[in-house]
Amino acid sequence: MAAVKACNILITGANRGLGLEMVKQFSENACPKQHIFATCRDPDGPKSEALRQLAKKHPSVITIIRLDADDPSSIKESAKNVGSLLGNNGLNLLVNNAAIVARGTILTSSIEDMKNNFNTNVIGPLLIIREYLPYLQKAAKASGTPGMSCNKAAVINISTVAGSMTRMPSIYSFFPTLPYGVSKAGFNMLTVLASEELKADEILCMALHPGWVKTELGGDEAPLEPKESVEGMLRVIGSLTEKQHGGFLDYTGETVTW
Ligand SMILES: NC(=O)c1ccc[n+]([C@@H]2O[C@H](COP(=O)([O-])OP(=O)(O)OC[C@H]3O[C@@H](n4cnc5c(N)ncnc54)[C@H](OP(=O)(O)O)[C@@H]3O)[C@@H](O)[C@H]2O)c1
Repeated sequence: MAAVKACNILITGANRGLGLEMVKQFSENACPKQHIFATCRDPDGPKSEALRQLAKKHPSVITIIRLDADDPSSIKESAKNVGSLLGNNGLNLLVNNAAIVARGTILTSSIEDMKNNFNTNVIGPLLIIREYLPYLQKAAKASGTPGMSCNKAAVINISTVAGSMTRMPSIYSFFPTLPYGVSKAGFNMLTVLASEELKADEILCMALHPGWVKTELGGDEAPLEPKESVEGMLRVIGSLTEKQHGGFLDYTGETVTW
């Protein structure tokens, strides 16, 4: 599968877990023109120390940008900042990775957990796509090549089988995360509808499941290390064409049923 050669890349939730590993792998293999906007909600806080260290190691490749997916004004502000750094260039690859998980069932899920999961996992990515759309359109136009790819312009939504109508029932008993599952199902629909809207601009949009991975969200029992999951996701991202537009794949490239 092809490598990701997108010039300008933005990743949300980049200070830990899969987002941080993605920034790490992108920056280690960066080609000279590549730039990564690693966004997180608290760039100066203790939870962003590892990202700050990584940015120090690759100062010409990584720029840390504040972006809180729960806060529309922070999303707008981040887009303004990234826009001024992009100058005349567009944004080639937007990775909606930030998410939260709340456990709960019909009887135990709180209204607050439902709202918080919906805010971070659905409304946040929706506003992020909206605010960054002009830069994605600019990249798509500038490419001058027909078709779709992540090197041209793409939105990759990091989703989960927990948001799949067909897959979640069989894992629900040992992963009782109703607020998360419902929000990620909404995120999947957002992916499908965004892909409809982005088609005319030839901006690729799809959902990607990283596997079950050892992170704060995935827990210690997960079989996959972030390194392996991200290596797989980057291989898949690098190989995408218009054939996968509006689709749902996992980190090995297998189709996930909605
Ligand atoms: N790990 C798995 O097994 C697994 C499986 C399927 C899907 N996924 C998906 O993979 C993605 C990454 O998950 P992960 O395992 O890396 O989780 P994680 O280790 O818990 O990291 C989550 C990231 O999202 C950020 N985040 C949370 N709320 C945010 C907000 N309001 N604004 C901006 N950033 C926010 C966190 O930042 P803070 O440090 O500020 O909280 C953190 O950087 C998620 O979309 C998740 O649904 C993971």
